[in-house]
Amino acid sequence: MLLKLVILVLSSLTACITAEQAALQLPRPQELSSESSIIPAETSKELLSLHRKLVEIESISGNEDEVGHWLASYLESKNFTVELQEVRAKRFNVFAYKGKNRKTPILVSTHIDTVPPYWPYVYNKTSNIISGRGSVDAKASVAAQITAVLSLEDAVSDKVSLLFVVDEERYGLGMQHFSDHAPHAYDAVIFGEPTEAKLVCGHKGIISFEVNVEGKAAHSGYPWLGVSANDALIEALGKLIHLRENLPWSTKYGNTTMNIGRIEGGLAANVVAESAMAKIAVRIAAGTPKVIEGLVIGALKDVKAKVEDEGGALEINWIQEGYPPVDIDCDIKGFETMTVNYGTDVPNLKGDHKRYLYGPGSIFVAHSAHETLKVEDLEKAVKDFERLILATLK
Ligand SMILES: *[C@@H]1O[C@H](CO)[C@@H](O)[C@H](O)[C@H]1NC(C)=O
Ligand SMILES: *[C@@H]1O[C@H](CO)[C@@H](O)[C@H](O)[C@H]1NC(C)=O
Ligand SMILES: *[C@@H]1O[C@H](CO)[C@@H](O)[C@H](O)[C@H]1NC(C)=O
Repeated sequence: MLLKLVILVLSSLTACITAEQAALQLPRPQELSSESSIIPAETSKELLSLHRKLVEIESISGNEDEVGHWLASYLESKNFTVELQEVRAKRFNVFAYKGKNRKTPILVSTHIDTVPPYWPYVYNKTSNIISGRGSVDAKASVAAQITAVLSLEDAVSDKVSLLFVVDEERYGLGMQHFSDHAPHAYDAVIFGEPTEAKLVCGHKGIISFEVNVEGKAAHSGYPWLGVSANDALIEALGKLIHLRENLPWSTKYGNTTMNIGRIEGGLAANVVAESAMAKIAVRIAAGTPKVIEGLVIGALKDVKAKVEDEGGALEINWIQEGYPPVDIDCDIKGFETMTVNYGTDVPNLKGDHKRYLYGPGSIFVAHSAHETLKVEDLEKAVKDFERLILATLK
């Protein structure tokens, strides 16, 4: 990738064209087939080139600078007015609209960061399947949203602005920043995430926490001289696994689930463990993060008292404030609907706008090493985003 860029820059220098033009040279479009009947052949070709370029630029959370700049010049070349909104140093949201009207009734948005690690773009002509990091989550939505807005008549596209944020895969800093500086209150916001082309009626909430235990080291032959942080953590996790069976549930979202995602503790078999910790995420199907907090604190109360009694400590550290289940509008005819268990930027944009969540590709491949997307699904998403925009404008 880096080599390719260097070559691109060098060749553009020798040809005396501007960096901006260089950035817009789309890669090898002749390789992309377009026998689709879903959208016009020219549109499909442009869509696939746009998607390819976005996936080829690595943009793991924290490293969105290059893809953001490329995207901004692409949008400018399509006559959008583009604002770069700095969220952190070298990390900015790309906000685009037609002409001078930045206060549009509709906002169409997704994210430009991806999870690690990077996987290169591969297009299989035989199967018509694209793979690569971000090919689904969420660069398929980026490409389809832009193509949809470009395909709409001017009178409609004037009413839509596009927002591509950073950091959705980590803390949602990009959308939180936009929310704090939004131009005005929107009528409707359409969010893009992999939903298998369905409209999502809501997703679970989340709360994450760490359990940190401090013990006292000692020779393992004389364990009574120490306090085992590992013993206390294991006891604490036992309580949490028991609690897990008794967390609130709802018919809409099913069971609240708890994932003990990481455990660390101690140093060696012959040393009483001085410290131990676990990282845990709870996907909330009913109730609020406060309710879950209370249940966790209650479940660990006795273990905490015991370890403190022995001269150790057990602390629960809440990572961010979390949020309850997020209900989302799904009242547009002609779409299948579902609920999902993953988090999105939807709750990070404050306001009482209508909100919709839709996107091509499946969440089941999204964060995996075989993230793949069918070309026809990408093309269908263009038509679907057009339908969603037209429906929300009514
Ligand atoms: C952008 O606007 C200019 C001036 O109005 C026009 O000549 C050009 O064709 C437009 N380009 C696109 C891609 O719409
Ligand atoms: C492309 O897809 C075809 C049909 O599914 C498959 O047989 C072939 O192995 C794939 N090629 C590569 C390079 O993965
Ligand atoms: C919820 O958990 C109960 C048991 O705790 C199980 O029987 C049920 O199938 C679960 N529901 C869903 C939707 O997973």
